[in-house]
Amino acid sequence: MSGFISSIFFLVLFLLALAIIWRINARKYISSGTVASAYDSWTQDKLLERLWGEHIHLGFYPVENKNIDFRNAKIQFVHELVKWSGLDKLPKGSRILDVGCGIGGSSRILAKYYGFNVTGITISPAQVKRARELTPSELNCNFQVMDALDLKFKDGSFDGVWSVEAGAHMNDKTKFADEMLRTLRPGGYFALADWNSRDLVEYPPSFWEKFVLKQLLEQWGHPNFTSINEFSKILSKNKNSAGRVITDNWNSYTNPSWYDSIIEGFRRPFAILSLGPLAIFKSIREIPTILLMNWAFRKGLMDFGVYKCRG
Ligand SMILES: C[S@@+](CC[C@H](N)C(=O)[O-])C[C@H]1O[C@@H](n2cnc3c(N)ncnc32)[C@H](O)[C@@H]1O
Repeated sequence: MSGFISSIFFLVLFLLALAIIWRINARKYISSGTVASAYDSWTQDKLLERLWGEHIHLGFYPVENKNIDFRNAKIQFVHELVKWSGLDKLPKGSRILDVGCGIGGSSRILAKYYGFNVTGITISPAQVKRARELTPSELNCNFQVMDALDLKFKDGSFDGVWSVEAGAHMNDKTKFADEMLRTLRPGGYFALADWNSRDLVEYPPSFWEKFVLKQLLEQWGHPNFTSINEFSKILSKNKNSAGRVITDNWNSYTNPSWYDSIIEGFRRPFAILSLGPLAIFKSIREIPTILLMNWAFRKGLMDFGVYKCRG
């Protein structure tokens, strides 16, 4: 009996220690510089790439095939967003801006399958370096370090503007929307996917939901979330979208990604084990956030928003 009690005691102690480390090592948003450092370190330790592949976004799990492979679901996501937004109507050679491009997963698909000429920008220098390493020279893709809130391109420089899961890192959503739409030429195609909260004014969060939202913000460098409706209004106010913004909620298509991203660690154990004990610890450290994300998206506290409009 005393053995059982001491086992419980050590288990509680272990879980408490994990919780403390989880909170102390949170990657709270302070500025775009802290987001850059977080992505630099996620890129340099190779853990994210080994687990999530070259796409740092959720996958698309079609209703008729929920068993699609984790990595194929990410590729499918890019094709689904292209189709839904109408980007595939643009001719080969069209200039596309990928805002918050990560290590270039989407950019390479847009260049390879659709023949576009893609410029990817990210705030993380390590991601630009890795994106360049991963991109074959025959693809029309170039990558630059740039702040999405201060794009160094002339008005109307692009035939299409694309952004996947970057907006939640922006502290000024209006500037984010205005900069993207400014660089889109009249008649060009705009496609964006992002993590949103539900409308928290109309449906205020409970005590537990407030706690969950705080973790989702502070663990992965997010300053704030907007609802799909709020961000749609922000886009619509910009004269270049002429108020013709269309949105959808892809929660049901993308939600299987969360559990799948944990299972992926067991499917490819050597991907982590070969990076050493610290990598194992770091990957375990992300599990509570992934579970909270899954819960929040499943319960509708968070929404997976997709947005499209023509310039
Ligand atoms: C979740 S990742 C998505 C990456 C990529 N779109 C993909 O789907 O693989 C978020 C991306 O947004 C970028 N980002 C965050 N804040 C940024 C900013 N202020 N300016 C430019 N990029 C930013 C990050 O560096 C990262 O590349």
